[in-house]
Amino acid sequence: MAAGKTLQDKVAVVTGGASGIGRMTALTLAGEGARVTVADVNLEGAQSVAGEIQSMGSEGQAVETDVSRSSDVARMVDQTIAAYGKIDILVNDAAIAAGGALAELTEEEWDRVLAVNLKGPMLCCKAVVPHMLRQRSGVIVNLSSGSGFRPSGASLAYGCSKAAIAHLSRSLAHQLAPDNIRVNTVAPGLTDTPMTRKNWATAEELKKRAVSSNIQNPMGVVMEPQDPANAVLFLVSDAARYVTGQTLHVNAGSWLS
Ligand SMILES: NC(=O)c1ccc[n+]([C@@H]2O[C@H](COP(=O)([O-])OP(=O)(O)OC[C@H]3O[C@@H](n4cnc5c(N)ncnc54)[C@H](O)[C@@H]3O)[C@@H](O)[C@H]2O)c1
Repeated sequence: MAAGKTLQDKVAVVTGGASGIGRMTALTLAGEGARVTVADVNLEGAQSVAGEIQSMGSEGQAVETDVSRSSDVARMVDQTIAAYGKIDILVNDAAIAAGGALAELTEEEWDRVLAVNLKGPMLCCKAVVPHMLRQRSGVIVNLSSGSGFRPSGASLAYGCSKAAIAHLSRSLAHQLAPDNIRVNTVAPGLTDTPMTRKNWATAEELKKRAVSSNIQNPMGVVMEPQDPANAVLFLVSDAARYVTGQTLHVNAGSWLS
């Protein structure tokens, strides 16, 4: 590994690493020298990203993981420890956007969204933190969303899960600070990924959403996955060594609109 990379000798686990922001985060951390477990329910996608990492000359492996299942999460951790010996960085990116407003939302949709988007990150933290405690260092970044901060009934379960994950970060940040474990949140605004393309199929539709809706941003842009991935990189790096319990909004100023 070339000298001077900011995450040299670090080991990272990125859930949801097969697609979108998670994929770009896995590639970005690997580009800075981290060895990366790409954990995703989509094994084929995770293997493809692990292949991209290897073709960059870095180390990466795919582990099929449904973050809502503790047995899968245990396997994710075991396979990371078996391959790389430790875990320094956990990025909880995996999430689903399902269910609509209160009147249409089903109990099953609520349960599934909360299971993946909130219970999943909690299970991953629960399984990874003991390894961080042993080495008295570690960094966790949880992916929230502007939807967790700006109320909109349209995607109720998703918004509630994303609000709660910021509280999960703050709670764990407070508890784990004495053990030199930092926990932060990145809250992206509208970003061009397979998740958003499900609702806004073309670049034009996405752009319209970014500039003329309740989440409009004054910079008038749709972000690329690299934008939140850069925020994750900052938060897991030593440049942020005393940053914990914070939410970094990467949203082209949508709060200002
Ligand atoms: N794209 C946006 O505009 C946007 C905005 C705000 C927040 N976010 C957040 O960023 C994160 C990434 O979103 P994205 O847009 O890249 O989505 P995406 O759909 O492109 O990627 C999500 C990944 O999570 C995986 N996944 C889903 N359920 C899983 C499970 N149970 N276990 C493991 N993996 C699972 C999927 O297979 C997929 O690879 C999410 O937490 C999302 O809520 C995205």
